[in-house]
Amino acid sequence: MTEHIRRRFEDGVLRLTFARPDKKNAITNAMYGALADALEGAEADPNVRVVLFDAEGEAFTAGNDLTDFAAVSAGSIAHEDMQAHRFLAALACATKPYVAAVHGFAIGVGTTLLLHCDLVYVADDARLSAPFVSLALVPEAASSWLMPARIGYARAFAMFALGEVIDGRTAVAVGIANAAAPAGEVHTAALEAARKLARQPLGALRATKSLMRDAQTIQQVMNREGEVFGARLQTAEAVEAFKAFAERRAPDFTKVRAD
Ligand code: COA
Repeated sequence: MTEHIRRRFEDGVLRLTFARPDKKNAITNAMYGALADALEGAEADPNVRVVLFDAEGEAFTAGNDLTDFAAVSAGSIAHEDMQAHRFLAALACATKPYVAAVHGFAIGVGTTLLLHCDLVYVADDARLSAPFVSLALVPEAASSWLMPARIGYARAFAMFALGEVIDGRTAVAVGIANAAAPAGEVHTAALEAARKLARQPLGALRATKSLMRDAQTIQQVMNREGEVFGARLQTAEAVEAFKAFAERRAPDFTKVRAD
């Protein structure tokens, strides 16, 4: 268990808080493991009626820890051992409602996670992005399918390929989020919504969520993405992207073999 994912349980709501503020809540392998444990536990525990994701510090999350990606790329962590797979599988199979309270940066999985949440509250000035191509990677969490379905191909492609950032109000306008509010009010709005959901009949909620989501296709898309993503982590382009991040410079892909 890592201290970087905080769990609190009250009134039927399991609150999972990203708590690594000094690293903008970048998600490590251990954090993915803790999230997967919590989500698998929530699914099995009859007392948990709703899961709420939120974050401490300035950011929701800066996405996957890029030093972990670099470690996979270098062969010191096997791609199959990445706990992110368990986390993604838990998202795909979820039947209980998920709510998110988002402020600050929501990068990569910080944004694609929202496509698996049933109610999303964002700060007006939140910064949502999914810059996978800039990292020489491809979309994950079934976002290659869910994102264009949600916001349209043109906008989804600009987010993936150009790293286009959208703010909280735009996230509402394009259908990623339910409501935008000043940053200081987002957590309260999300918590109120989560508590309201927790008082609803859980059987009917689960049946509704299952009807509204094609869990089997989501899992199949994740599997396909996982294969391509794993291969891309080994490319010269990805090595350049992770090296550039570590060296705090912009990557230069023009001199790197395209594979
Ligand atoms: N992985 C690992 N470490 C990360 C990280 C990530 N995804 N995002 C931020 N950090 C770390 C930084 O390395 C820095 O660590 P240090 O203090 O030891 O140097 C610390 O968090 C603070 O980040 P910093 O870049 O100094 O803050 P900033 O306010 O200037 O920028 C971000 C914030 C989030 C815009 C910037 O850190 C960033 O672009 N991160 C990478 C986002 C990304 O590409 N995620 C992967 C998506 S798949």
